[in-house]
Amino acid sequence: MQKLLIKGKKILSGSISVSGSKNATLPILAASILNDKKTTLKNIPLVKDVFTMIELLDFIGLKTKINKAQNILKIQKKNKEINTVAPYRIVKTMRAGILVLGPLVAKYKKAKISLPGGCAIGTRPVDLHLFALKKLGAKILIKEGYIYATAKDGLVGSKIHFPSISVGATENAIIAASYAKGKTTLSNCALEPEVGNLITFLKKLGCKISVKKGRKIIIYGTLKNKQVSQTVMFDRIELGTYLIAAALIGKKIIFPNVIPRIISNEISVLKKMGVKIKLKNKKIIVYESSSIKSTNIKTQPYPGFPTDLQAQMMVLMSKAKGSSSIKENIFENRFMHVPELKRMGAKISTKNNIAKIYGPSKLSGAEVMATDLRASVSLVLAGLVADNRTIINRIYHLDRGYENLEKKLKNCGARINRI
Ligand code: EPZ
Repeated sequence: MQKLLIKGKKILSGSISVSGSKNATLPILAASILNDKKTTLKNIPLVKDVFTMIELLDFIGLKTKINKAQNILKIQKKNKEINTVAPYRIVKTMRAGILVLGPLVAKYKKAKISLPGGCAIGTRPVDLHLFALKKLGAKILIKEGYIYATAKDGLVGSKIHFPSISVGATENAIIAASYAKGKTTLSNCALEPEVGNLITFLKKLGCKISVKKGRKIIIYGTLKNKQVSQTVMFDRIELGTYLIAAALIGKKIIFPNVIPRIISNEISVLKKMGVKIKLKNKKIIVYESSSIKSTNIKTQPYPGFPTDLQAQMMVLMSKAKGSSSIKENIFENRFMHVPELKRMGAKISTKNNIAKIYGPSKLSGAEVMATDLRASVSLVLAGLVADNRTIINRIYHLDRGYENLEKKLKNCGARINRI
């Protein structure tokens, strides 16, 4: 089992190029099932979850061709029988496998999808995905850990109001509705930028989709088979992670080719904490900050503060003067990083979904265990600022969502190695 070894306290300087967004790539890969012609995706991140989704598309019967040197992936339907199944062995490692349910039942009128295993950050049900597909006319049966969906006459557009906001369920519904007969109106949708990237892709395939105020999205099932190409947006969570690294231990770090306004909420929180951030059209520069102040945040659906940056923020708050708090409103169990950070000297107490962080606390290296993707990266951040050495176990969690993490940090002077 690979580990990461980090020798802390090394000041970082240089520039970090952020990769393409994993959470934009995955739904677009699922949506490519709808297209009989060639789909070309550029700027895809070479991370485990993307390779898992590619494996799933291969299993379903699509032809995929990846050019790792150029981060380009081509997907094409071949004249082979489509296997409308997403098996447990693939879905258990990546819950986003559920996203192939919508396109398969829309286009092929049936799907057998393994129920995703829960994961470290909570039970993560899929009831909202199934609710939306039933509203579009799918018949759903759950048996022996599998979802059996059928729509013998295809899906029909409908009005769907989500009882609660879900990124994946919104994406599944949009993809399915783009191949359903007639008009679908979704309300109380997730509006994460990655949903926007998916909509851009589906529009290139001829779908008429419009986003209205009040989290409403209208889709007409007018998708056509077309040769299309799309460049995946930058990964805003990876960017946020490295902005926090720069705030913790950077002298001057440049982030080129990003769109600052997409993470305006996160930037204003960091500025409020005293982080020196300069925005220059498509570039962000973080300078050494003399002192970091405490603050309070609560995670919310976009454009609120993202839950995927919560663990990383906890490390910055540990170095801030005064007491901070984080209210985790999205997942019921996303404080798995807290015990490990406390072992490194962080002063954190949690009660229900609220964490209180007291700082500044001296962090010292330890041997720690990663639990989920973002918890793992918070341990990397802590290791960068801690005294002496930190060893992080189970770093396969990191490889699911961070491309070339050690290389990017090493290029800025970090003493970090995979052992
Ligand atoms: C997406 O997960 C992201 N993953 C997550 O990022 C992210 O944390 C999450 O959205 C919230 O922003 C991808 O995009 C691949 P949800 P998703 O459906 O779609 C509950 C990362 O680190 N819920 O918005 O699974 C759910 O349990 C990952 O990159 C239901 O109750 O998240 C959660 O409490 C982690 N029923 C809340 O809604 C459902 O049918 C939000 O989940 C679906 C979700």
